[in-house]
Amino acid sequence: MSEEIVLEAQSISKFFGTITALNDVNLKITKGEVLGVVGDNGAGKSTLMKVLSGLYKQSEGSLFFSGNKVNLNSPRDSQNLGLEMVYQDLALAGNLPIGDNIFLGREPVKKVGPFNFLDHTKRKQLTEEHLAKLKINVKSADQKVEELSGGQRQAVAIARATAFNAKIVIMDEPTAALAVKEVGKVLDLILNLKSLGVSVIVISHRMDDIFSVCDRVMALFQGTNFAESLLKDTSRDEVIGWIMGKKD
Ligand SMILES: Nc1ncnc2c1ncn2[C@@H]1O[C@H](COP(=O)(O)OP(=O)(O)OP(=O)(O)O)[C@@H](O)[C@H]1O
Ligand SMILES: [Mg+2]
Repeated sequence: MSEEIVLEAQSISKFFGTITALNDVNLKITKGEVLGVVGDNGAGKSTLMKVLSGLYKQSEGSLFFSGNKVNLNSPRDSQNLGLEMVYQDLALAGNLPIGDNIFLGREPVKKVGPFNFLDHTKRKQLTEEHLAKLKINVKSADQKVEELSGGQRQAVAIARATAFNAKIVIMDEPTAALAVKEVGKVLDLILNLKSLGVSVIVISHRMDDIFSVCDRVMALFQGTNFAESLLKDTSRDEVIGWIMGKKD
């Protein structure tokens, strides 16, 4: 089994004024691993992910990508290292087609004189190839995002995050807003990413999500590492206990 550590956070603390959101937190994830992160509201999950993605600068501690210590100053820095984050609000443009959303801000372009023209044919082809690779079913890459179901939108957000050779994808509550039948599709997508060798960190309050896709689960409690386990060595009741700060 591959034990290549693709991302490691060591002793991360994050202070907002007098608030300690994270205190000496450690996290690591190996290639192709799906790590579940759980914790009560305010436990520090989103803050930790924002530190990993370079949106927030940690107050203390270090980040390592593939063993190299890095200094992230923006999400662009972590993207360049192969990390993509799917935010809870998805940040998609509803009035634009799927293909445009996937390439928003990073379109394949044809240079014509001093101007950059979007190459629509190329973009559509790349979008269709990418959706097929992830086994995402939509009627057409030209369909507008506002016409899609919640689950399809989540799939487009994940497709966008993984279109540029992501090695690590972070998803903050990817199923929270979805109907039951759409949840399964998003979970399948996570397993597809895993099979492609992508490492996935998934924050979820739903034990069904955690127990259907994760290899390992870690719990934060009041900004600290509280417990962690391989999934096969724990149970739903135990993990629910960790969220509430209980250990046997
Ligand atoms: N920008 C900020 N400024 C001040 N405090 C913040 C900021 N972001 C987060 N916090 C505080 O840090 C703590 C952790 O918040 P965080 O959003 O990481 O929690 P969470 O585990 O993601 O919770 P939830 O499950 O509700 O999404 C909370 O006490 C929160 O109020
Ligand atoms: Mg959160």
